[in-house]
Amino acid sequence: MTNLQGKNSKIQVSRFYRPFLFLFIPLILFSIFLGMKKMQYSQEIFPEELNPPFGLPSILWPKDNPYSKQKAELGRLLYFDKRLSSDGTISCASCHNIPCAYSDCKMLPIGIGHQQGTRHSPTIINAAYSRFLFWDGRATSLEEQAKGPLANTKEMSNVKDVHEAYKQCVNKIREVVGYRVLFKQVFGRDEMSIDDIARAIATFERTILSGGSPYDYYRAGNSKAMNREQIKGFEVYKKAGCIECHSGANFSDDRFINIGIGMDKENPDTGRYAITKDEKDWGAFKVPTLRDVEHSYPYMHDGSLATLEEVIDYYDRGGIPNKNLHPLIKPLHLSAEEKKHLLEFLKALNGTGWQSFQAPTEFPK
Ligand code: HEC
Ligand code: HEC
Repeated sequence: MTNLQGKNSKIQVSRFYRPFLFLFIPLILFSIFLGMKKMQYSQEIFPEELNPPFGLPSILWPKDNPYSKQKAELGRLLYFDKRLSSDGTISCASCHNIPCAYSDCKMLPIGIGHQQGTRHSPTIINAAYSRFLFWDGRATSLEEQAKGPLANTKEMSNVKDVHEAYKQCVNKIREVVGYRVLFKQVFGRDEMSIDDIARAIATFERTILSGGSPYDYYRAGNSKAMNREQIKGFEVYKKAGCIECHSGANFSDDRFINIGIGMDKENPDTGRYAITKDEKDWGAFKVPTLRDVEHSYPYMHDGSLATLEEVIDYYDRGGIPNKNLHPLIKPLHLSAEEKKHLLEFLKALNGTGWQSFQAPTEFPK
């Protein structure tokens, strides 16, 4: 009896609360709706913690510029914002854009005032793993590199003096209230500097990655991840010596090598030599990554080779002879079939990651 009474009284209590439940349900739905609105507004596209795609090592974030999703998002806005250039016509993305796999699909880039550059725009996919940046390696961090184009009178600035160019760039960004708010959120200080602009852009760049390719899964033990032609192509890749330079997780050993590109010109670009003045660096350029290389055409520091077929033919011929040609660059005598397999192998290095972030549709006002 007592039990039953107890049950009854419980039912009565919940009956008492029932009308309130009908009030709570719309309230809960409304707050979910509000939450979604907020997420859309702040564009939560970067994860709390960045894990590189399968097959890539973890990223070494600089001590003075660790990852945060707010910083990556600020960097993404700056990267695509033409207001960083003197005349508002050029952004980083003008020469490193998503549809061209973060290169520009051009032999040579076009910068401010329709000026043509002298070297091909390299992809920035996996630049997070490069010890040296630029074809001649003259920058050693993405932070340092990012400041280059902002003061380059052929790329984004029409001011000759480097410090004046930086000042102009910072002033233009400071004028934008929306940026002032974001910089304060990310860096916790009121004053804005060229170094903080570079820190944000570099953080975004370190999120532009390519991994999880058929090759990565094949290497991890899934023998079906690459097709038969690609597996044969991997053998050619090793036999032809490609792996001697394009090695490691990022398919670059970070060395500077003369493979002969442009060496038949009257005044060839001397590459790394101009930086080190060391004879062994004459005509030597950075070994580039081969990840997603199918998409970042044309190829080489001068953009002189339009397709991967042309690249393979170039190596097969033994490059362009010159006084400093690397001994591995010599006629390979590959058969038509071997060339085809090698090409298929290079396509097995197409991965995912870099496609996930889009250009902003709106910028801070
Ligand atoms: C007008 C075209 C142009 C613009 C604008 C431009 N770049 Fe570049 N970028 C290049 C060229 C060309 C190179 C190679 C130059 C060299 O090696 O001397 C390069 C090199 C780089 C590299 C080195 C990649 C590597 O693997 O060595 C990075 C990173 C980069 N740019 C990022 C940026 C960022 C960030 C911005 C905006 C602040 C930017 N670029 C603006 C054309 C451009
Ligand atoms: C001795 C070192 C070395 C060897 C061996 C080598 N490469 Fe390269 N590779 C380089 C360097 C250095 C460059 C850039 C040269 C330049 O631009 O002047 C390059 C550029 C490339 C590029 C152009 C990438 C881009 O983004 O522009 C491709 C593709 C490539 N190599 C594929 C191969 C293949 C395939 C093989 C084997 C047949 C091979 N490489 C052998 C050093 C090497």
